[in-house]
Amino acid sequence: MIPEKAIIHEVAELREKLRQANHQYYILDNPALTDAEYDVAMRRLVQIEADYPELITPDSPTQRVGAPLEGDFPEAPHLLPMLSLQDVRGDEELLDWEKRIRRHLHVGDEVVFQYVCEPKIDGLAMSLIYENGRFTRGLTRGDGRRGEDITHNLRTIKAIPWQLRLKDAPPLFEARGEVFIARSDFEKLNAQQAAEGKPLYANPRNFGAGSVRQKDPKTTAARPLTFFSYSLGAYEGLKFTTHWQTLETLHEAGFRVNFQKSRICEGIEEVQKFIAEWNIERQNVDYATDGVVVKINDLHLQNELGFVGRNPRWACAFKFAPEEAVTRVLNISVNVGRTGSLTPLAEFEPVEVAGTTVSAATLHNEDELRRKDVRIGDYVVIRKAGEIIPEVVRVVVEKRDGSEREFVFPTECPRCATPVSRGEGESVLRCPNNQCPARLERLLEHFVARGAMNIDRVGEKLIKQFVATGLVKDPADVFTITKEQLLGLERMAEKSAKNVLDSIENAKMPTLARLIYALGIRHVGERTGELIAEKFGSLQALREATLEAIASIHDVGPIAGQSVRGWLDDAENQKILDKMLAAGVVPQQSEARVADERFEGKSFVFTGALDIDRREAERLVKSKGARAAGSVSKKTNFVVVGENAGSKADRARELGVTILTEAEFLEMIKAD
Ligand code: IVH
Repeated sequence: MIPEKAIIHEVAELREKLRQANHQYYILDNPALTDAEYDVAMRRLVQIEADYPELITPDSPTQRVGAPLEGDFPEAPHLLPMLSLQDVRGDEELLDWEKRIRRHLHVGDEVVFQYVCEPKIDGLAMSLIYENGRFTRGLTRGDGRRGEDITHNLRTIKAIPWQLRLKDAPPLFEARGEVFIARSDFEKLNAQQAAEGKPLYANPRNFGAGSVRQKDPKTTAARPLTFFSYSLGAYEGLKFTTHWQTLETLHEAGFRVNFQKSRICEGIEEVQKFIAEWNIERQNVDYATDGVVVKINDLHLQNELGFVGRNPRWACAFKFAPEEAVTRVLNISVNVGRTGSLTPLAEFEPVEVAGTTVSAATLHNEDELRRKDVRIGDYVVIRKAGEIIPEVVRVVVEKRDGSEREFVFPTECPRCATPVSRGEGESVLRCPNNQCPARLERLLEHFVARGAMNIDRVGEKLIKQFVATGLVKDPADVFTITKEQLLGLERMAEKSAKNVLDSIENAKMPTLARLIYALGIRHVGERTGELIAEKFGSLQALREATLEAIASIHDVGPIAGQSVRGWLDDAENQKILDKMLAAGVVPQQSEARVADERFEGKSFVFTGALDIDRREAERLVKSKGARAAGSVSKKTNFVVVGENAGSKADRARELGVTILTEAEFLEMIKAD
């Protein structure tokens, strides 16, 4: 079929619309299209390209995910070396750094330098090359002189433009910056991993590093990576006098630049003030950061200052006191997970890290334990990975005195003594016994959890008793427990027994999606549960579904599909489902959200210091059908202002957008 002019025109318009929408969403944090509008445009473009394959161009928004890489990652030299920064810790070292600058330039204290202070993003440094405005190559830092070519993966990251948005495309333009995953996305991912009985990712940085070094770009595309640009590398055909100008141009060209948290500072005192403020503010941002980068703003001075070794003289990285602590390993125990996975856990003398007391950290699996060579009695450095989950960084080998004991991984399950085995290609040892009490306890904990069956009066302690007394042998048994049985348990009075029974009774009408998720089938997280429920509508239809029908659901796939079908085919599991139905469990089609006009389709911006956690506030408005945006525009409906709200509140006033105090907002959320 030869495409008509109108089709060619439509394709061009759709592409421009999608590109613009991407930019608004990922770079400006100010969505112009709703998700539904975006989907409609994307689907139309996919359809036309399917009908007229000759219209497909490599830069079409449909082509983010290209072909997998065969062989090793090719290497390429950097146009300019990718250097590192001198670390400075504390005021004294910062002032020394400025002194060296003065000495090198032969100027005294009378000269006040202009600095740019930027958050130091703890991600992965990248070099992105644009030739005549088109993204042609993306390299990792590598050894600083040569990097690995991971263009095929970087193309899938939506915050990386394929085409510069500059009017006159420069012949050469190299954007440098950091690829990273937002902390909230990382937490979500790990929660999902846990729910699916898979091992957790150690920290956002490792996760990012693993993600960009995939052979198949499909894997990278499925991961929520983003990119902040903080400096211009090589370029031709452009002129700048300050670093700040280069940042502005990077932003204009279509990159995310962290202007919101960066500042021009006059003199080193202002830099110190920025650092002190950032030390507090960094807790509130959604990315991992490990300090402040301080740069001389004047490019002419930068040039004059040059380099010492691998570091520029004109910049430094101010590092905060590391949130690490040293403690002693008292024991290494083994946890048995829901799917039987055996996880070593280091139990140590309680120690405070980043404001909380921790006494244990997972060592993930046997390989990790061996790699770090953690022994009982060792002193270890503990850190909060992504500032959340405690992890063992390393052993303080110098403190060993010979009394440390190597941990011997059990060959039997520590709870039920069944010989453990390692699945093919897996680094995890598993207890294969479906009746293992530890596995049952973990399964029940998952089953009753919020997001699953939500039986809030049944907690860990009660579950232990259920399993120990043999009252509950599978999740269905929870629904047939009687008051008499409950009263027979330790420390269970009339009142609490009634509360437990009420909470079980209230859980008998879960949505089908929650029930599927609650069953604890491997590879089935909340989202997969929803997708399956959406497709089949009823438990009966799902029980009768073929493997092909389940696996063909978009975003479910063969692994989860097989796991679900396998679970349903198991005779024991069929009995569990029958028992549940007989006990009066009635899965519902879906959780109907009552439309709330005050929120539905509205856009909220939160600014200033709020008492409520900002992410929680955003989650609340989203749960009511509204959007949470990062900046104020004409399309914003409400701006919620906390203390010291700055430019966003001013902008809201200018545009006549409704301003709410935090108290007013909380009232609005409460008043259903
Ligand atoms: S500027 C000459 N700015 O930290 C080096 N780097 O420890 C110029 N980093 O290699 C780098 N945030 O990977 C710069 N705002 C920022 C940064 C930043 C993170 C990374 C970058 C750099 C490393 C140095």
